[in-house]
Amino acid sequence: MMECKVEVVIPEECRKLDQNEEWIEIVIDGKAERVRLHDYGRFYEIPGFYDQFYQDLQCRSPQVVCEALKQQIHRWGENRNPLRVLDFGAGNGQVGERLSRELNCRKLVGLDIIPEARAAAMRDRPDIYDEYYVMDLANLSEISHKNLTQWNFNTLVTVAALGFGDIGAQAFANACNLMPDGAWVAFNIKDRFLSDTDQSGFSQTIEILMEDGFELLESRRYRHRFSLAGEPLHYHVIVGRKNGNSRKIKTN
Ligand SMILES: C[S@@+](CC[C@H](N)C(=O)[O-])C[C@H]1O[C@@H](n2cnc3c(N)ncnc32)[C@H](O)[C@@H]1O
Repeated sequence: MMECKVEVVIPEECRKLDQNEEWIEIVIDGKAERVRLHDYGRFYEIPGFYDQFYQDLQCRSPQVVCEALKQQIHRWGENRNPLRVLDFGAGNGQVGERLSRELNCRKLVGLDIIPEARAAAMRDRPDIYDEYYVMDLANLSEISHKNLTQWNFNTLVTVAALGFGDIGAQAFANACNLMPDGAWVAFNIKDRFLSDTDQSGFSQTIEILMEDGFELLESRRYRHRFSLAGEPLHYHVIVGRKNGNSRKIKTN
């Protein structure tokens, strides 16, 4: 991957912001611009920047989720069974790279909602995915559904992409419903979205999803990354097996 030549400035006021409001200033060739941390498209456009920046914030989620999935697969003695994986919210392929290195992936398909993610994965990690779709799973057309089901997935992985206006409950339910019973499902989610005090509604929808179609094997709180202020941000890693279809969930 190409070196990242971006100067990053973190203004003092940015150290007090909530996670989905965080922004930084970047300077490239003397030109400054403001970029929200959740503006993934802009991050991906700059070669190496997404990986370098999140490494500096000590983001551990790709590693934590992939290792948790690997451990459960081994625990169930299924490490020889080939995986056909959908990497949902695949971004520039960090998770795909790890999955292909550490697990027995027969097929690995990436999917993201923004074209910049696919372009970055093709640029930075061209040999990882068998296919990479740019699609909105919340509004799945018949042709897209057909394209996806032809892969006969048996594993769904979603890292750092649920909530915060990213992948919503409906899209996640649709992704789960693409999996057969017994499929592995591994994802992470901010601890706030699982708490009883969550006001976003996401906690409730995730709960319904889990009750409807999920056998929980592992749920563990861990440090996802540090905030711009240097505070730890905690998520849950969740691994389970799909077990029955999720009811359709209406989202706002
Ligand atoms: C923080 S990045 C994580 C990327 C990758 N999973 C990783 O861990 O490096 C979140 C990704 O989710 C994608 N995303 C957001 N909403 C989505 C949706 N509704 N469907 C698919 N991908 C989505 C974003 O475009 C972004 O690439």
